[in-house]
Amino acid sequence: MNEMVLEARDVTRRFTIGASLFKRATTFSAVKGVSLSLRQGEVLGLVGESGCGKSTLANMLLGLLDPSEGEVLVGGKAISRSSPLERARRIQPIFQNPYSSLNPRKSVEDIVSLPLRIHNVGSASERRAKVAEMLDMVGLSRRYLDSYPNQLSGGQRQRVAIARALIMRPEVVICDEPTSALDVSVQSQILNLLLDIKDELNVSYVLISHNLAVVQHIATRVAVMYLGRIVEEQPTEQLFANPRHPYTEALLSSVLTPEPELGIPDTHLGAAFPNPMDPPPGCSFHPRCPHAMPHCSTLHPRPLSDGDRMVECHLYDEAAAQAAREPQPA
Ligand SMILES: Nc1ncnc2c1ncn2[C@@H]1O[C@H](COP(=O)(O)OP(=O)(O)O)[C@@H](O)[C@H]1O
Ligand SMILES: [Mg+2]
Repeated sequence: MNEMVLEARDVTRRFTIGASLFKRATTFSAVKGVSLSLRQGEVLGLVGESGCGKSTLANMLLGLLDPSEGEVLVGGKAISRSSPLERARRIQPIFQNPYSSLNPRKSVEDIVSLPLRIHNVGSASERRAKVAEMLDMVGLSRRYLDSYPNQLSGGQRQRVAIARALIMRPEVVICDEPTSALDVSVQSQILNLLLDIKDELNVSYVLISHNLAVVQHIATRVAVMYLGRIVEEQPTEQLFANPRHPYTEALLSSVLTPEPELGIPDTHLGAAFPNPMDPPPGCSFHPRCPHAMPHCSTLHPRPLSDGDRMVECHLYDEAAAQAAREPQPA
């Protein structure tokens, strides 16, 4: 089996918000005890509705945000103990919005070469050559070397962001909604580019999206996130053929039935994504779940793994159902 390049062990991130003159602060967990692993050459799709904690998890994987509990390892080493250079060589981000993630006052060459300059890699002419080579790889003409972001389209800007992420030849790239800000026609071009580069540079990805359809063709495995937890994980083909968690089913049915006017809706569950600051008791999905049983509202489901799949749902936990059926002592 391939080498493990990235691992999260039971990571939790709490935020404290709302302290003001009249209000007491509340603390809530945006990510709760999440574990995941990425082997060399894999693409792990991470899917879930807006607000479920995907970006918080991504920022912890990148070492940009410290976990409140648990740890992240890159190449087997705790990211918190890696030097900035080591980190930059191993893991790089591509963010959602190429309009805000590129400095408008810097040229394409400046933007893409920045990681090289920060880490003192090569001479000025070597760096320019590396940048030009990288533009070839991301399909952007070298004549844009001296252009500025406002002279580029959204798709071209995202190619610049991809070139910047890859210039250090990292082992892992964390792509956080890399196509969500782009026109539909450009989205598949960027996804195909990521796929081509993966083979050319031997890079592994975590690909984050709120839309299952986006990860379908690229991801080798998919993890589905709901309210700070990973509730299901399966190899991509299996997940699409046989979704197990009712939440995955709902996400999938939204992908399979695009609406003529609106394109692909996010889910058919309505807008009622629960408030992460006040999560429902028991299984946090139970208020929206078509299969909810009485004990789903009181007992938190546990992760059930078999082989390469995992699900966290009472439908698959016979022992918990049995215990719930037994008469409680008076
Ligand atoms: N820095 C922060 N301070 C307070 N709350 C935050 C912060 N970052 C994210 N959150 C909250 O954590 C939850 C998860 O957010 P996020 O990770 O951005 O979700 P996603 O990327 O899946 O949309 C949301 O309720 C969001 O408002
Ligand atoms: Mg996000």
